[in-house]
Amino acid sequence: MYNSMFDVSDKTVVITGSSRGLGLAYAKGYLEAGATVVMNASGKETLTKVTAELKSRGYKAYAYAFDVSDKEQVKKAVDSIEEKVGPIDILINNAGIHRRNMLIDMTSEEWRKVIDVNLTSAFLVGQAVARKMIPRGKGKIINITSLNAELARQNIANYSSAKGGLKMLTKSMATEWGRYGITCNAIGPGYIETDLTKPLTEDPEFDSWVKKEVPLGRWGKPEDIIGTAIFLGSSASDYINGYTIYVDGGWQACL
Ligand SMILES: NC(=O)c1ccc[n+]([C@@H]2O[C@H](COP(=O)([O-])OP(=O)(O)OC[C@H]3O[C@@H](n4cnc5c(N)ncnc54)[C@H](O)[C@@H]3O)[C@@H](O)[C@H]2O)c1
Repeated sequence: MYNSMFDVSDKTVVITGSSRGLGLAYAKGYLEAGATVVMNASGKETLTKVTAELKSRGYKAYAYAFDVSDKEQVKKAVDSIEEKVGPIDILINNAGIHRRNMLIDMTSEEWRKVIDVNLTSAFLVGQAVARKMIPRGKGKIINITSLNAELARQNIANYSSAKGGLKMLTKSMATEWGRYGITCNAIGPGYIETDLTKPLTEDPEFDSWVKKEVPLGRWGKPEDIIGTAIFLGSSASDYINGYTIYVDGGWQACL
């Protein structure tokens, strides 16, 4: 009985930004758990290659390239996924980018791009998918925020603002859509080694700062987040709604 609470084998999951990094780790976790996974990126090349490789290993993986910040592309993709792959049970709004710059020098392009891809995208994809989930009376939405939804750092005001907004969008989705049987929660990763954080892992000063500050004494690995992503998509979390679970090695536990 307890194991079946975590069973996601009959679920169809859409994961935005899953051609690499954390999104790819969530995809592999769900595929290994038997789920059908729709993988996404804005560009086709890596996405097609990665999905084909997973398919060749017998996994139920589908590739849908679309830009999560483009309303028309999002609507077209969600309609097509529902028709061709099946009803979406779980949505993971994971796509995200950085445009690092000091606030005083930040251009409006750098500001808008990061807000569009990290925050507006979750509104657009979330709304398109919720419109399908609501008549069915069930669904799970997981937004990927960040440690930076709580804590600011130099160079990333656009990103921290987007992730802070995404934390509140998570609560708003939970508030408005809970009555339709949809739960919405967030995962806030700490410092995890991916392409996005390469400029930081390759900076010896930043690298030693992370290892010194985080109680677990190491960078997170993409695999460290999979369990939480499966938990929030499974029936084990059915009465959790509107929360962020931080997977940050204890960063926020100490001063
Ligand atoms: N790596 C970390 O330490 C860390 C920490 C906290 C939060 N996060 C968040 O986790 C998520 C994934 O991060 P990552 O480190 O794996 O990044 P990554 O750069 O390795 O991967 C990002 C993915 O998003 C896709 N993407 C980018 N723009 C897109 C768009 N417009 N439309 C569709 N797809 C798009 C990319 O193709 C890629 O697949 C992001 O939201 C990020 O903010 C990461």
